[in-house]
Amino acid sequence: MNIKKEVFGQCPKGEKAFLYSLVNPNGITVKITNYGAIITAIEMKDKNGDKENVVLGFKSMDEYLSPDYLANYPYFGAVCGRFCNRIAGGKLNVEGVDYQLFINNGPNHLHGGQTGFDKVIWSPKTIEMPDFVGLELKYRSVHLDENYPGNLDVSILYKLTHKNELQIEYKAVTDRTTVVNLTNHTYFNLNGGKENIFNHQLRINSKKRTVNDSTLIPTGEIEEVTNTPFDFSVAKPVGKDISALPDGYDLNYPLENPGNKMILAAKLSEEQTGRSVTVFTNEPGIQVYTGFYIPELGGRFGRYSGLALETQHYPDSPNHPEFPTTLLHPGETYKSKTTLLFETH
Ligand code: BGC
Repeated sequence: MNIKKEVFGQCPKGEKAFLYSLVNPNGITVKITNYGAIITAIEMKDKNGDKENVVLGFKSMDEYLSPDYLANYPYFGAVCGRFCNRIAGGKLNVEGVDYQLFINNGPNHLHGGQTGFDKVIWSPKTIEMPDFVGLELKYRSVHLDENYPGNLDVSILYKLTHKNELQIEYKAVTDRTTVVNLTNHTYFNLNGGKENIFNHQLRINSKKRTVNDSTLIPTGEIEEVTNTPFDFSVAKPVGKDISALPDGYDLNYPLENPGNKMILAAKLSEEQTGRSVTVFTNEPGIQVYTGFYIPELGGRFGRYSGLALETQHYPDSPNHPEFPTTLLHPGETYKSKTTLLFETH
């Protein structure tokens, strides 16, 4: 187990960003930068022992800052917050006070706004233990940052274990009541990007979906998915029924998880390479996004080039009291955990 640190580049405001490579003895390497807490690469072997990157990302900081990338920004590998996914009309009301959030996705607020947690510099600390190597990232989002109430102190712990798991632990505390919903926006492509994700097999541990309006805000209705194109409760190829949906999949699946335990959320696998990733979480939902809007950049990436499995609370929860709450009060600690298990068969 070891960690390598190198300079990754410079942020627009002049701060230096670093790249940390966490390496385990089984040939898994996870690369993370403290700019946006972004996972830039996850390298693993296929069934023939060939190591490739199985997530969408760039090798240089400049590419993360390029106007072409930011123009159709797909949030490759980043941590999204303070509230990931959408808030309808950017309208947030906390304890009777209205806060108008930035509108950056049609009529809605998306992934924390203009400068979300994906675009800030986090304070890094490396950790080396006998059974894992880790990177802890901390950030203070001040009161009224992106117009959210409360000074919010956030920490993320990325741990790569000797059992080929990447564990992601998020914590946050606030000094005023606020909302928090954090996720990591990694897109997987388990054959190293050689083709799109249509032949990947996906299983989601849910038989339900939250129904969206045309701007991808939940209507409040929760529908059974059995015998519809949305049904992944038994593994099937991602591309099997995708033609029924003009923009592919982009929706939240509620997970049956009343005790907020670590449960199976999804498994993605790819036959030619024998690679799979299994997602466990204590969150009540998982957003599945097949990357319809991923831009093509220098002949790479593009539509359906990766699949994001975002463990989180449901979109627009602050405006849906019937959904699991995303409120965080002073004195409480927000705790969220997701484990990605990488295997090759
Ligand atoms: C959302 C998509 C969005 C993508 C990139 C996903 O979490 O559900 O609608 O296009 O993030 O921003």
